[in-house]
Amino acid sequence: MIKHTKLEKNIGLMGVLIAVAISFGGLAEIVPLLLDASVTEPAPGVKPYPALQLAGRDIYVREGCYGCHSQMIRPLRAETERYGHYSIAGEFVYDHPFQWGSKRTGPDLARVGGRYSDEWHRVHMIDPRSVVPESNMPGYPWLESNVVDPDQVVASMRALQVLGHPYTDEEIEGARDAVVGKTELDAMVAYLQGLGTALKERG
Ligand code: HEC
Repeated sequence: MIKHTKLEKNIGLMGVLIAVAISFGGLAEIVPLLLDASVTEPAPGVKPYPALQLAGRDIYVREGCYGCHSQMIRPLRAETERYGHYSIAGEFVYDHPFQWGSKRTGPDLARVGGRYSDEWHRVHMIDPRSVVPESNMPGYPWLESNVVDPDQVVASMRALQVLGHPYTDEEIEGARDAVVGKTELDAMVAYLQGLGTALKERG
């Protein structure tokens, strides 16, 4: 039994015991979440990214789009009226790493899929100010000339399969055909058009 005066005079020991005490609170919050199906299982309709969308997602990460765009609609009225149904955990089970972000220089993109035409996205990605004159988003014109590397996409899918994404071997074999000859812009548009649509389709 540690005398309390001894504890109060030994800041190192007190620090360790404070950490232990606080960790109980953390465990009480975190452990149930690890076991709760609503946050670990995919929401109905949510599937692993098809090859071209996956390629687009990798480009999204490479270009650092998350530095200005979040992908997480909070359950607040101002957000749901602007962006649609708030995000739920089961929509992100195939996001490794997730792109929630915390910086919104631009709008949230969690449900941007289907909001604009493919053509709008193509023009906007190359030169945002040609469609939104007051935009401060940089243009990404090189996406139009860079070609997606099929080997890279196949390797990404294999790695995700190891992490537990239910890609079949046929899907991985078919990935090469799905992306061959596509530009990075094609991939980015496919990715953006798929964002948040699984839940939207359910209404
Ligand atoms: C410097 C900050 C910044 C970066 C980096 C950035 N954006 Fe944007 N983005 C904006 C702003 C501001 C807007 C709103 C004006 C507009 O539509 O251009 C926007 C708008 C958008 C929209 C339209 C969203 C809507 O609902 O109207 C899409 C899609 C988009 N960005 C995609 C991207 C992608 C993909 C990348 C990475 C390749 C990217 N952005 C990088 C700032 C940024």
